[in-house]
Amino acid sequence: MREVAIVGAGMTPFGELWTSSLRDLFVDAALGALRDAGADHLDAIYVGNMSGGQFVGQEHLGPLMADHLGMAGVPSMRVESACASGGAALRAAFFEVASGASDLVLASGVEKMNDGADVTGVLATAADQESEVYHGITFPGLYALIARAHMAAHGTTLEDLAAVSVKNHRHGALNPKAQFRGEVTLAQVMGSSLVADPLRLLHCSPVSDGGAAVLLCPLERAREFTDRPIKIRATGMATSAMALADRKDPAYLDAVAAAANRAYEMARLGPTDIDVAEVHDCFAIAELCALEALCFTERGRAGEATRAGETTIGGRIPINTSGGLKSKGHPVGATGVAQAIEIVEQLRGEAGDRQVKDAAIGLTQNMGGSGASSVVHIFERV
Ligand code: COA
Repeated sequence: MREVAIVGAGMTPFGELWTSSLRDLFVDAALGALRDAGADHLDAIYVGNMSGGQFVGQEHLGPLMADHLGMAGVPSMRVESACASGGAALRAAFFEVASGASDLVLASGVEKMNDGADVTGVLATAADQESEVYHGITFPGLYALIARAHMAAHGTTLEDLAAVSVKNHRHGALNPKAQFRGEVTLAQVMGSSLVADPLRLLHCSPVSDGGAAVLLCPLERAREFTDRPIKIRATGMATSAMALADRKDPAYLDAVAAAANRAYEMARLGPTDIDVAEVHDCFAIAELCALEALCFTERGRAGEATRAGETTIGGRIPINTSGGLKSKGHPVGATGVAQAIEIVEQLRGEAGDRQVKDAAIGLTQNMGGSGASSVVHIFERV
């Protein structure tokens, strides 16, 4: 396999973007990535998207997006893996370049959730319809069950959950592209309205619109496009039982652990080599579970580590310097690619007030549903 680099990145702000359509969001992000690299053509396009059909009535995104980018004719297809669609698109693009099949490949993600659809109902299609959704459960409900299981098994507290939101809003306040740029206090999080016990409004990622894109090419050609290429050192993916009740331990994200182990093995690196990471904090409990599955903390210790400041900028392992899904926003299909963009900015030294000093190796962890699929990537400054 050839070595692969990211040579361009572009993303829209995340938020309620009422004046931008799904295709506008894609084109803005894609043009941003092309301009960043000074590139004028593509060999292939992957579009990560969870549910264009249900959110805005639009399927068949491959040709639509290529056409609106002015690149009709280029091979282009959608990749779907629920909220992990963006990470899965990046993985597909990585292999297309690594295999030698193509040189310039766009990995993108896009979602328009604010357009009148029943968002909670659409998101629930990523859970098991027969054993979960039929009985009325929603995603906040599933993650509430995970939170309760984690609290029972490890003594995780409501303060631990709230500390994740406080930290991610503090980081997001420094990110001009974030949906929510205001800091929140522990008391505000713990006093916000109850969504699904024990999860409250300020434990949840919001409903968002947005697009993100990165341009990949073989590492040996990267200097044609940038003097700051970021190498994709590894990709790992895994799946788990779809229904929470079918997992041995609902408080442990085994697909995240398996994807991480594959990525660590491919990179020949371990968790202590990572300088900065973006993890899938769709709900505060998800960040705690991800920290444990990625082996950034011991099992059951993620809450304590968060409260001790270990995961903040300046801490032992800065997590979600972008603000994470909680504060930056979570346009589901775009999230995995946006996570990669934050790591690219960190490794290029372009993260401004969010910069992690001397960041050389970064990791992203993106997941679908209640953790039934997960994708992990490891990146390195060249
Ligand atoms: N974090 C912070 N503030 C939020 C927010 C969030 N997640 N969601 C909404 N808000 C704010 C809104 O801006 C609004 O503020 P305003 O009154 O000052 O304008 C207020 O809270 C109420 O917003 P509203 O849109 O009425 O909230 P809602 O009750 O319809 O939705 C949630 C709140 C948490 C239910 C919704 O954001 C949600 O479903 N999140 C989870 C999404 C999800 O499951 N993603 C997939 C994960 S696997």
